[in-house]
Amino acid sequence: GIKAVIFDLDGVIVSTDEYHYKAWKSISDKENINFDRTINNRLRGVSRAESLEIILEKANKEYTQEEKEVLLEEKNNVYKKLLTNLSSSEILEGVNEVIDYLKSNNIKVAIGSSSKNTSLILEKIGLSNTFDEIADGTMITKSKPDPQVFILAANKLGVSEKDCLVVEDAEAGVEAALNGNMKVAAVGDAIKCNKATFNLDKLIKLTDIVKKNN
Ligand code: G6P
Ligand code: MG
Repeated sequence: GIKAVIFDLDGVIVSTDEYHYKAWKSISDKENINFDRTINNRLRGVSRAESLEIILEKANKEYTQEEKEVLLEEKNNVYKKLLTNLSSSEILEGVNEVIDYLKSNNIKVAIGSSSKNTSLILEKIGLSNTFDEIADGTMITKSKPDPQVFILAANKLGVSEKDCLVVEDAEAGVEAALNGNMKVAAVGDAIKCNKATFNLDKLIKLTDIVKKNN
């Protein structure tokens, strides 16, 4: 059955995936590196440092570790500036309804995100006290597709992996969930990769999946 649902954050709970794109776009434009939405889709679920490595594949020069550190800091500064006015109005469609449904059916809810900005974002969108547990980028050493962040969330919840359903918009996140022996529902961009246990064109359909599997 499904005893817990672990949600990715960016692109599942809130539209901050678009701000990650904008922040990386501003860095790559300044560095004259080709960057577009196709490349951006490869960054979904991937840590900040690993995202930079993917972007630098298109660079015309080698970057030193020091130069990379500068770009990583700049990216996060631009990103955080874009988050200044973030509010609950950017919570994605169906999120509040699905969480209410899960809670009223005694199914635990957690966040499993690679982002080190998770607490800040949850606070800004008013969901700081909504989740039973949070596993985020500040607590892990290996980023998706490694299952570490989801296994941490499951352990914190005290729920066995096989009873967890992950919700993801990233191919790396879908793989991470499967690598952790969890079921996974793909939303948004992750539907394309066709690896998930379930594909949801609308998040609200998660309620049907929970009904059928319990
Ligand atoms: C999420 C996003 C990625 C982002 C990563 C790290 O997984 O999908 O695009 O790179 O978090 O986010 P951070 O806020 O720590 O830079
Ligand atoms: Mg995501």
